[in-house]
Amino acid sequence: MESFEHYIPTKLYFGKGSISHLEESLNTYGKRVLLSYGGGSIKKIGLYDEVMKILNEGGFTVVECAGVEPNPRIETVERGSKLCKEHNIDVILSVGGGSTLDCSKAIAVGAYYKGDDYWQMVLDSRGTSKALPLIDILTLAATGSEFDGGGVISNMALNKKIGRSFTFPQVSICDPTYTYSVSAYQTAAGSADIMSHIMEGYFSRTDDSDLSEAIQEGVLKSVIKNLPIALKEPTNYSARANLMWNSSIACSGIPEYGKLDTYWPCHAMEHELSAYYDITHGVGLAILTPRWLEYILAKDPTITPRLAKFARNVWGLQGDDEAALAKQGIQALHDFFKSNGIPMTLTEVNINEEHFQAMAESACSHDRLQRAYVPLTVEDVKKIYQMCL
Ligand code: NZQ
Ligand code: ZN
Repeated sequence: MESFEHYIPTKLYFGKGSISHLEESLNTYGKRVLLSYGGGSIKKIGLYDEVMKILNEGGFTVVECAGVEPNPRIETVERGSKLCKEHNIDVILSVGGGSTLDCSKAIAVGAYYKGDDYWQMVLDSRGTSKALPLIDILTLAATGSEFDGGGVISNMALNKKIGRSFTFPQVSICDPTYTYSVSAYQTAAGSADIMSHIMEGYFSRTDDSDLSEAIQEGVLKSVIKNLPIALKEPTNYSARANLMWNSSIACSGIPEYGKLDTYWPCHAMEHELSAYYDITHGVGLAILTPRWLEYILAKDPTITPRLAKFARNVWGLQGDDEAALAKQGIQALHDFFKSNGIPMTLTEVNINEEHFQAMAESACSHDRLQRAYVPLTVEDVKKIYQMCL
C-alpha cells in the first residue's frame, strides 16, 4: 500500500432541505455575494427564486455572473473575476453543475489576480494562490467538483481544455432533489463521469489497498444499480441521492488512497475531444473507456487478472477463464453505457479523424500518459481514437 495525504477542507451538507444552511454559511464570509450560474436551468426548477429569497431576506448584496457554459470558457472566468474586483465581492455562491462550480473556482482565484492574462493564470494555478471563499449548491451529479479543489477551463480559441487546482469550496450544499430535472442524457453522462473517476484509479498496479478497492467497486456497483432507476423515475430520491454521493466521493481522491498514481489516461484523451468539439465530458469518457481497456489489454496482457477482477466484482460475471472474463467485463461496461442511452461512437457525436493526430500529440504533450497504468504513446492514443469511430 502506498503513502498518501488526506486534505478535503469542504463542509458538505447533504440531503433534502440542506439549503437551510446557506444563509449561515454565507454570513461567515460577508454580505457581498457573486452569484454564478449556468444557462438557466436553475430558473426553470425554481432554485434561483429560492436562493434569491434567502439572499434578499438575509440582506446580502448580489452581483450576478450568469451564463457559465458547459465546458466553461476562459472568457467567463475573466468576466467573473473582474466583477469580483469591481464590486468588492466577499464570497462566491455558485449554483449549478460541474461547469459552473469549476468556473467559480477559477473566478475565486481570478479575483486576486494582478495580471491581464487570465489564461496564463489558469495555466499557473496550483491551488496555492489566494482565493475568495466559495460556497456552492450542486444541481448535477457528475464531476465531484463540490468535493475537490480542481477545475477544468476551456480556451476554444486555442483548442485547449485544462484541469488545474484552484480552491476547495468552503461549503457544498448537496440536495438530490435539485437533480430531479437533469435530462436523461446529462444524467447518464454524469454517471459515466462518476464511473470514469473510479475506473481511472481502479486500473492500477497496486493490489493491496483493500479499503480503496472496496470503495471503488462499491461506487461502480451503486451507479450501475441507480442510474437505470434515475432514468426511469427521475424523481426517485434514493436513486438521485446515491448518484449524488457517488459523485462527491468518486473524484475526491479517497478511492485511490494507497494506490499508485495511474495518471487518468481517459481524462487526458477526453479533454482533447471536448477542446476540439465541445462535447459532453461524460459522453466522451463513456466512448473512450471500453476501447482504452480493450487496447491496453491487447498491448499488455499482464493486466488480465485485474480486468477479470473487474468483471467478477463489479459486473458479477463468473468463470475460470481469466482472459475471457477480462473481455466480458469490458463488453459489460460498453453495453451498460449503451443501454442507458449514451451514444457509443465518436461518429455519433460528429467527430471524425481530422484532428486525431493533433489531439493525440496534445494528450501526450506532458509525460503523464507515458507513466499511465499501461503507458501510451501518440500512436497508441491515435489508435484508441480510431477504435471509437
Ligand atoms: O447551464 P445550465 O442551464 O445550468 O444547464 C446545465 C448544462 O446544460 C444542465 N443542468 C445542470 N443542472 C441541471 C441541469 N439541467 C436541468 N436540471 C438541473 N438540475 O446540464 C448541462 C451540463 O452541465 P455541466 O455543469 O456542464 O455538467 P457537469 O456537471 O457534467 O460538468 C462538466 C464539466 O466539469 C468538468 C468537465 O470537464 C466539464 O467541463 N470536470 C470537472 C472536474 C472537477 N472539477 O474535478 C472533474 C471532471 O473529470 C470533469 O473534467
Ligand atoms: Zn471526469
